[in-house]
Amino acid sequence: MKDPENGWIEANITINGVKLNFAQSMTLRAAINNFLMELEDPDALGEDKLGRKMVINYKDRLREIVRYIVGESKMSSLALISVYDTATPERHMYEKFLFDLLKDRKPWESISHKKMPHYDEHVKFVRSKPYKKWYIIDYRGPVGSIYLTHENQVGIFIERHNQGRKFGAKALNMLLEDSPNVETIYANIGAFNSRSLCFFVMKGFKQERVDFKDNEDNTSGGTLLQYVYRIRNPYVIMPQAHARSS
Ligand SMILES: CC(C)(COP(=O)(O)OP(=O)(O)OC[C@H]1O[C@@H](n2cnc3c(N)ncnc32)[C@H](O)[C@@H]1OP(=O)(O)O)[C@@H](O)C(=O)NCCC(=O)NCCS
Repeated sequence: MKDPENGWIEANITINGVKLNFAQSMTLRAAINNFLMELEDPDALGEDKLGRKMVINYKDRLREIVRYIVGESKMSSLALISVYDTATPERHMYEKFLFDLLKDRKPWESISHKKMPHYDEHVKFVRSKPYKKWYIIDYRGPVGSIYLTHENQVGIFIERHNQGRKFGAKALNMLLEDSPNVETIYANIGAFNSRSLCFFVMKGFKQERVDFKDNEDNTSGGTLLQYVYRIRNPYVIMPQAHARSS
């Protein structure tokens, strides 16, 4: 249903035969979103096995309801949501999601990040806008993140249980399309990150060089081997050719 004043749209919700009005429907949607956000804390319903299980089940059911409310057509497509442009309370949810994503990384998947920061350091980092673009990859909720650095290096991280569902490939394509002024995009990949190497090669990236970096953690003999791959952005807008004077 449409609000006649500002044209906003809310779902048509009926409870026990009673059709909710616009404000009631909006309130219900906001309450569901808030509950979903609260459940971002795995211990929100108790620090035991039962509490954590309830959080997972409630989240699944809430996501189903959100899907009905927003409409399957809008939710079935992947979206990139800017981390920088998102206001609270969603911003808090994304900061927490990015922290969990960082925690989930294996040592060979990290090039720049060495030790796990404290949560407040992480939030400070996110809010410092360290990259040119930083997006949450959203498919019925956040599934990963993608960024482009000021040096035009791309970083993609998909939640482990959502890998292999083409989210990485689609998000990369959307980032390239969203960057028509960037001619060449780079990917720095750790030598032991075979999944990621396969991914970028399959997406058309070509090897540019191999770098040897000091490994502060000293987990792989003091030196880290890193491949630098690059791709020419197919969506780049070519600068106008200068008219030749004869
Ligand atoms: C690498 C990563 C971004 C790929 O995203 P993804 O959503 O899992 O990958 P997709 O489902 O889009 O796969 C696209 C293509 O990549 C290749 N690929 C993906 N996973 C692969 C694997 N395990 N082995 C071989 N090839 C693989 C395939 O060619 C695949 O296409 P196909 O399924 O048609 O064969 C994701 O696995 C990830 O987040 N890894 C951990 C973090 C990381 O290492 N990021 C890279 C640092 S920038």
